[in-house]
Amino acid sequence: NLSNFYLPLRPIMKYINEINKRKTFAIISHPDAGKTTLTEKFLLFGGAIQTAGAVKSNKIKKHATSDFMEIERQRGISVATSVMTFEYKGFLINLLDTPGHKDFAEDTYRTLTAVDSVVLVVDSVNGVEEQTRRLMEVISMRNTPVFVFVNKMDRDGKNRFDLLEEIEKELKIQLHAMTVPINSGKDFKGVYDLHEKSLVLFTAGTKANDEDVIKINDLNDPVLDSKIGEKDANVLREDVELIDGVYGELNIDDYLSGKTAPVFFGSAVNNFGVKEMLDTFIRIAPTPRPRHTTIRDVKPEEDKFSGFIFKIHANLDPKHRDRIAFLRVCSGKFERNTFYNHVRLEKDVRFNNPYSFLARQKDVIEEAYPGDVVGLFDTGNFKIGDTLTEGENYFFTGIPSFSPEIFKEVVNKDPMKTKQLEKGLMQLTDEGVAQLFTQFGGNKKIIGCVGELQFEVIQYRLLQEYGASVQMNSLPFYKACWLTSNDPKKLDDFVKYKQANIAEDKDGHLVYLAQSEWFLNTERTNNPDIEFHFTSEIHK
Ligand code: G4P
Repeated sequence: NLSNFYLPLRPIMKYINEINKRKTFAIISHPDAGKTTLTEKFLLFGGAIQTAGAVKSNKIKKHATSDFMEIERQRGISVATSVMTFEYKGFLINLLDTPGHKDFAEDTYRTLTAVDSVVLVVDSVNGVEEQTRRLMEVISMRNTPVFVFVNKMDRDGKNRFDLLEEIEKELKIQLHAMTVPINSGKDFKGVYDLHEKSLVLFTAGTKANDEDVIKINDLNDPVLDSKIGEKDANVLREDVELIDGVYGELNIDDYLSGKTAPVFFGSAVNNFGVKEMLDTFIRIAPTPRPRHTTIRDVKPEEDKFSGFIFKIHANLDPKHRDRIAFLRVCSGKFERNTFYNHVRLEKDVRFNNPYSFLARQKDVIEEAYPGDVVGLFDTGNFKIGDTLTEGENYFFTGIPSFSPEIFKEVVNKDPMKTKQLEKGLMQLTDEGVAQLFTQFGGNKKIIGCVGELQFEVIQYRLLQEYGASVQMNSLPFYKACWLTSNDPKKLDDFVKYKQANIAEDKDGHLVYLAQSEWFLNTERTNNPDIEFHFTSEIHK
């Protein structure tokens, strides 16, 4: 294919101003750590919303665990807030929302493939929690730059140094304190901003922009004692000396390569410590970065458009049976009503009503630039990982599938609807709702998900949209591992010998379904020539 040999002849920097203005990121946290609250404060700073509480109403309530229709309804509303764009100090910031509910963790993993950096919220009382650990694995796989916001400093939390140590150890990332907290809980007095060399005083319930900020270049200045008392002033002096001694100035390259994460302390609900972080964010967070593809790296400033689909949202409401594919623009300029090449389907497609997510309404847009996310109406042409270009033949890489954690066999209850069922399973799994496996050497269909809720969603949608009635029988597996080996004979033998545990994914790749960690470890030890992978790349 000749288009594989296409290379831009000269670097055309047409869109460089647009690109340099943009910062695309996601806020992630364990549920309840304060993601929604922090998001709202960012939007308030950006002038995108006027009142506190505006984002809250769109949140998927974590307590509504049993009613998936209710969760879907809320998720439907949350499409509008999937991407929140706001301007701050001349920058255009795209904040990508991630679902808080753990059953939708896959959505979150995929959203992380579409951002250039993340802000991780950690609750100062609870420290690092399970979901955060998993998200960090995804982030470090991609060397995504991270900011850490230690939230709820107004509550009696863990000791600041213990907390830093815990975060470093648990998340396997080097931290760099940017602010130093003065106490916590009811004694929380504020933070010292190491970069700005200023004392930021805390009063509960402060409104945006009226923080008490005092420039203190020299910490020996007695002003410090008069502001926070001699005892706390001395502790702060020691803390700062210790931190300066250990870390020095933040090395921005280490941040950009995902090695070091700047840390801020604050209280989102009190809008405290948020502005310091946002100001640092616009100063150092990356603008849209080059992306890997199957043939070469694509730079944002190339003049030809390219992008990929990282998320597909289907609406369960029968009155609004629309499906929205989320496209991240990677290079060039995306334009409405222009034909682009859908690489996988080898056909040209165009979009009459692409929309942006500005100001919580769906606005039809004429153009979009690298870093932007565009919503495309889809009637089933897209699946996760699809690439659009102006003709060049490649796929963006680094969009993984993760091992599901719950597995069920799909049993067809209505043999007259076999075709519909197959179609439904293919389409729903294209959307990334679940993963589909086929028993090796047989045709038993196995669905794998991260949460129970998704099975309910699938069962419901198969019936509503495809007229297929199914029963789901639990299977005793806990992980799916993709298998590779340099020794085809050994792999063949393993597959034959372990047939009951072998399946193929949708693309025909072999997976081993493990009953437990013990079984998995045993097989790993017994089969040193076979590699067991917990993730699989959609495009390699
Ligand atoms: P999430 O999106 O990560 O799930 O968390 P969310 O922002 O909803 O915050 C979870 C709870 O923590 C909320 O209370 C919120 O008000 C509270 N919170 C957020 N930041 C802080 C903080 O800095 N200090 C303290 N003390 N609390 C904070 P809630 O009771 O669940 O909701 P609400 O009734 O207050 O709205």
